[in-house]
Amino acid sequence: MTTPPSGPLPTSEILAQLRASADAPLNRAMSSHPQLYRDPGIAALEDAKIWSQDWLCPGFAADIPNPGDYITFSIGPDPIFIARGQDGEIRAFSNICRHRMMVMLQGSGNASKVVCPYHAWTYDLDGKLRGAGHMERSTGFNKDDHCLPEIRVEVWHGWIYVTLNPDAPSVADSLMALEPLVAQFKLGDYIPVASQDHVWDTNWKLLAENFMESYHLPTAHKATLGGWLPLDTVEFPDRPHAAFTHQIFEKLPDSTYGVAHRDNDHLVGRWRHTSVMPTVFPSHMYVLAPDHCWYLSLRPQGAGQVHVRFGVAIAPEVHSELQGPERDAWMAELNQFFDHVNEEDRLVVEGIYAGSGAGLAAAGRLSWLEREIHDFQKYLSGRLG
Ligand code: FES
Ligand SMILES: [Fe+2]
Repeated sequence: MTTPPSGPLPTSEILAQLRASADAPLNRAMSSHPQLYRDPGIAALEDAKIWSQDWLCPGFAADIPNPGDYITFSIGPDPIFIARGQDGEIRAFSNICRHRMMVMLQGSGNASKVVCPYHAWTYDLDGKLRGAGHMERSTGFNKDDHCLPEIRVEVWHGWIYVTLNPDAPSVADSLMALEPLVAQFKLGDYIPVASQDHVWDTNWKLLAENFMESYHLPTAHKATLGGWLPLDTVEFPDRPHAAFTHQIFEKLPDSTYGVAHRDNDHLVGRWRHTSVMPTVFPSHMYVLAPDHCWYLSLRPQGAGQVHVRFGVAIAPEVHSELQGPERDAWMAELNQFFDHVNEEDRLVVEGIYAGSGAGLAAAGRLSWLEREIHDFQKYLSGRLG
């Protein structure tokens, strides 16, 4: 008979258990303690040591192809926007007005300047304050003193990354070992076709871990993509990397999605039906396939909710073949497919979160197919420990 766990653990003990599993060999590793997903002390540590320190992904550079295009995002408590300037450069700024802290832009769109909806202070897309009415009697007021704080941004193979940490190593350096795998797909040419934001009732790490393992595909996704992926083709990196993990898997050649279009002239051999699935720690995860790419970018909302940004882009040869109503129909079918996949995932990750609150919940053993969860434990333990 299994001994029930003896109640809440102090944060230090949760971290000690995380360290023990991270340090164990994979064939002895355990899943993380249930309270890693619920403890307020862990969430506070993550704010200080993960969310304000690491690179996060707000979307594709191709989401903002034209001057004036912008998307909004957040880093911890800080709303930000990312915009393409008139010079074609992508920059990121605090989305908080320097007058009296109004959040300015919402969602995504195109604008030649940022106008605060409260008193109409107006900023250029390079963050400079250009207009501030009725400030002539405010002694010493100088618009140059009230520019929007600029945020570090880096574009890597079509992805935008942002961080509040001036000392974080560059994305290009951190992901150097991933670069050859991703570069062959020419992801920077893919065309975004869908983007959605959702809030799910689970801890962000449970959704991240769910993405990282294909063990659940035949069961949780049996109605969608579960049957297309022969699990014995799954490969993992030779050694753990500090900033990311990934797996590589082959799709059956008759899969509806995940195989190269006949006009794709750069992928050869097995790569025409092989996908790379990186997780860039902490929370950017994607499936990069020869014909499409879909991603998740996660941000916690407290321990029990996660903000999910979900997006899909398709290879240019797939995009250009489809025109007019045919493209609309194909897109509707693709969106419906991913909505179904997401719903299957939401069900399980909300289910595990509910389970993690049970008195009898306990860590279990990991399969070799959960290798990336073990890599994630190493990352978490390194950051939080
Ligand atoms: S808060 Fe933005 S103009 Fe006043
Ligand atoms: Fe899934």
